[in-house]
Amino acid sequence: MDIKRVIDEVNRLKKEKNAIILGHNYQVPEVQQVADIVGDSLALSKAAAEAESDTIVFCGVHFMAESAKILSPNKRVLLPVKDAGCPMADMVTAEKLREYKKENPDTTIVCYVNSSAEVKAESDVCCTSSNALKIVKTLDSKRILFVPDKNLGSYIKNQINDKEIELWPGFCITHHRVQEEEVLKVKKAKPNAILLVHPECNEDVVKLADFVGSTSQIIDYANKSDNNEFIIGTEMGVMEKLKNDNPNKKFYLLSPGLICNNMKKTGIADVLEALKEEKHEIHVDEDIRKKALVSLNRMLKLS
Ligand code: 13P
Ligand code: SF4
Repeated sequence: MDIKRVIDEVNRLKKEKNAIILGHNYQVPEVQQVADIVGDSLALSKAAAEAESDTIVFCGVHFMAESAKILSPNKRVLLPVKDAGCPMADMVTAEKLREYKKENPDTTIVCYVNSSAEVKAESDVCCTSSNALKIVKTLDSKRILFVPDKNLGSYIKNQINDKEIELWPGFCITHHRVQEEEVLKVKKAKPNAILLVHPECNEDVVKLADFVGSTSQIIDYANKSDNNEFIIGTEMGVMEKLKNDNPNKKFYLLSPGLICNNMKKTGIADVLEALKEEKHEIHVDEDIRKKALVSLNRMLKLS
């Protein structure tokens, strides 16, 4: 089937099955094209919580579809590619977190949404890259453990003086590999460009940025800016939208290594198959779901 026919068939099945397609900003262009909502983790969590469809097809990685199921337990949530995961989410386990909590009973656990349902269930509150600073600031607690992203954690820690923030040693393999020297070279080559980076980049890179934000915040910043050139320090999936929204502006990807293989596993044919065969359905144990929901709802209330 050619791509146009696949897209038409996806749109037909979507109506027939009363399904909604949610797509992360890192998805390939044709998947973004069939998505009802394309956005960052926060926007997609909100969309999942408010969805009125019977089925949610989540084009992203496992923890995102799992969060959708936690927020919308009565809907069928499908992840088109079963093994599309997030390596950073696997860098903290509920077991390790329970051990930490036993030794540090007075510490508040803040978990990045890039984590499993079990880890969310052990945490006090969730956050995404777009609201992490705001959420940590509003907490009364003076001692915080931030899991699993040490880079997003240190970005917050550097802006908060009245709390002790401990960082779990996790990181995003895609963003973390960008090095300071590489950034300095690109900045030198493109002296008129503004550098926009995701806080999953390492501290040395973040400190060189003109703006730090989630994927949607980066897109929004570039769309509204009067500047004409931008260096983009996040996964390459955002480039297409940036160029389409701003045909007269120039965008340079900070590093060719900014590609998340897991986000790129989902193709349009997988979306079609997911709708047709109703796979791969996400299930979350009800006790874990209820506990994880408390952390996610607390985040949504504070956002
Ligand atoms: P945001 O879309 O929330 O910025 O998250 C980026 C990311 O890496 C998701 O895995
Ligand atoms: Fe996980 Fe990084 Fe990929 Fe996002 S870009 S899904 S944090 S590995």
